[in-house]
Amino acid sequence: MRSKRVFCSVTIMVGIFLITGVIRPVTQAQRPPAKKMLIAHRGASAYAPEHTIEAYRMAIAQGADFVEQDLQITRDGILVCLHDLSLERTTNIEEVFPDRFRQDVSDDQSPGSTAARHWYVSDFTLAEIKQLDAGSWFDPKFKGAKIPTWQEAIDLIRGKAGLYPETKGPEVYGKRGFDMEKLVLEQLKKNRLDRPNSDRKTPVIIQSFSPASLQKMRYELKTKLPLVLLISSDPQKKWLTQIGMKQAARFANGIGPNKGLISQNPDIVTWAHEAGLTVTPYTFRSAFTGKFKDVREEMRHFLYTLGVDALFTDNPDQFPRN
Ligand code: G3P
Ligand code: CA
Repeated sequence: MRSKRVFCSVTIMVGIFLITGVIRPVTQAQRPPAKKMLIAHRGASAYAPEHTIEAYRMAIAQGADFVEQDLQITRDGILVCLHDLSLERTTNIEEVFPDRFRQDVSDDQSPGSTAARHWYVSDFTLAEIKQLDAGSWFDPKFKGAKIPTWQEAIDLIRGKAGLYPETKGPEVYGKRGFDMEKLVLEQLKKNRLDRPNSDRKTPVIIQSFSPASLQKMRYELKTKLPLVLLISSDPQKKWLTQIGMKQAARFANGIGPNKGLISQNPDIVTWAHEAGLTVTPYTFRSAFTGKFKDVREEMRHFLYTLGVDALFTDNPDQFPRN
């Protein structure tokens, strides 16, 4: 009886305090701001050749919360870290395997044009890919840098930062008989990193430009890991409406738009947050800062004026923590 009276009095007092404003319910605006996350884009790729162990090491030393890996698949089914589907931009493949290209007629079909030659990752075994120099194109001082396997990247980064893998060209790999999503999730499982909070020091977020790839991981392969839908240009812009974001929120935890899309319409950030999505624009680099004095100022504007939650940058050392 007495405890009932105490309960009633406390309830009435809390009610009075709420009405008079002495106690305020915690609203979104009053919550302490979540920590802004720094994702090292292809590693510290302004300072070392992208997707090399050296670029990843530097990213960690510069305080990255996550290190990004774009993923490709070798002929023998190994996930490696490389942005492009083919090897010629960032390695000396043309010298080492001069005849092993594919001539892609689809690249340019205008009369008299020469189709581009591409040395696709999926045409080479890991042993062959390991013969390549992935550093000299960036600076001769990085001569001999290798394309890392994803496992090598995981081994380096684990315990020091989070992993932020991207399924690159999953549909292309599908046509070549590979199941990229399955490979990615199996490898995470092998490393016991396949669940949210599997390893507090090594959070994992998976990103893709392909909604189908994310949907497959969420619905078919049943991952509970956070998924981020990257958004670049016109066909994908449908996601950037209030309705589109609600649809995206069914399978993704966040969106990763090109930063220009947010500049064009900063309401995107509010709409995403209303839909329960985080916002992680790309890519912030000292080489292209537009109207901003430098990349630090540009990142500051997006993080603290426009309110994005995280961002991808080639310059982790310039990330403004406040
Ligand atoms: O993944 C975010 C950003 O990296 C997307 O662009 O082409 O550099 O993979 P890209
Ligand atoms: Ca990427």
